Amino acid sequence: MTGLAVVTGASSGIGREYARRLASQGMDLIAVGRRRERLDELASEFPAVRVQAVVADLATRDGIGQVAAAAADQPVTMLVNNAGVAHYKPFAELLQAEAEELVGVKVLAPTLLTRAIAPGMIERGAGRIVTVAGMIAFSGPATLDQVPLRRAVYASSLAYAVALSQTLHAELSPHGVQVQVVCPGVVATEFHERQGMDLSAVPRMSAADVVTASLHGLDLGETVTAPGVEQQDLLAAVFEADLAAFGAQSPELAARYRP
Ligand SMILES: NC(=O)c1ccc[n+]([C@@H]2O[C@H](COP(=O)([O-])OP(=O)(O)OC[C@H]3O[C@@H](n4cnc5c(N)ncnc54)[C@H](OP(=O)(O)O)[C@@H]3O)[C@@H](O)[C@H]2O)c1
Repeated sequence: MTGLAVVTGASSGIGREYARRLASQGMDLIAVGRRRERLDELASEFPAVRVQAVVADLATRDGIGQVAAAAADQPVTMLVNNAGVAHYKPFAELLQAEAEELVGVKVLAPTLLTRAIAPGMIERGAGRIVTVAGMIAFSGPATLDQVPLRRAVYASSLAYAVALSQTLHAELSPHGVQVQVVCPGVVATEFHERQGMDLSAVPRMSAADVVTASLHGLDLGETVTAPGVEQQDLLAAVFEADLAAFGAQSPELAARYRP
């Protein structure tokens, strides 16, 4: 695979693994993160390809704009919206700045970067847009006993990524642009540790396996890739039920609400 990939959150974990995998396959990179030394390290690992490090804070409009500007007028083959933070804590304790950061990095940045990069892909009739969400996207109905992580905004941001990717798939696939959302479970990266949590005792998937599933899932034509879900038809059943509920609506007030 050759071409140019934009990878956000390329300085650690899953994003760094995407960056390494794509660079080792011969792709040039626009590698995004706040830690310049990590991005420079990545660039020095792959002298055979062009790695442009973009130091940007995706929680800010300026940061998102910097990445969009770096990608402008370049034939981007693949966009990997991966950067993220969770801020696991009770909703009432989530600081406004944390809520804004989370929504900025996990919702606004992927939306605006996709909006900046998709038109070129449509014009060229080819491209891949990957967004890293997580199985927590499907945890909305869970009680605190079932999923103790306080996660309202984070889970919602991942659910947004699923809906965005599914609807964009419908819109962009006729133009030759493939859209995928990746939903891992718990992954062994710096993610939890950076948020003051020790999950080292929890069985975790490797970032390498997540990326292997994503790239294989793209070749299989998947829109939703769940690296750790063995039962392939499970998510299909969820989406079928979503569609059934969507299709069941009517302008008539449902009987149970009638006075
Ligand atoms: N680890 C898990 O268990 C897990 C499970 C499901 C989904 N995910 C998702 O996987 C994605 C990658 O996480 P990871 O597990 O690889 O964690 P990680 O090792 O902490 O990596 C997070 C990456 O996001 C970047 N990032 C965070 N905030 C940023 C900001 N404001 N601006 C620019 N870059 C920012 C970080 O770079 P800098 O700090 O250098 O800016 C880093 O490269 C996340 O979106 C997360 O939601 C993770």
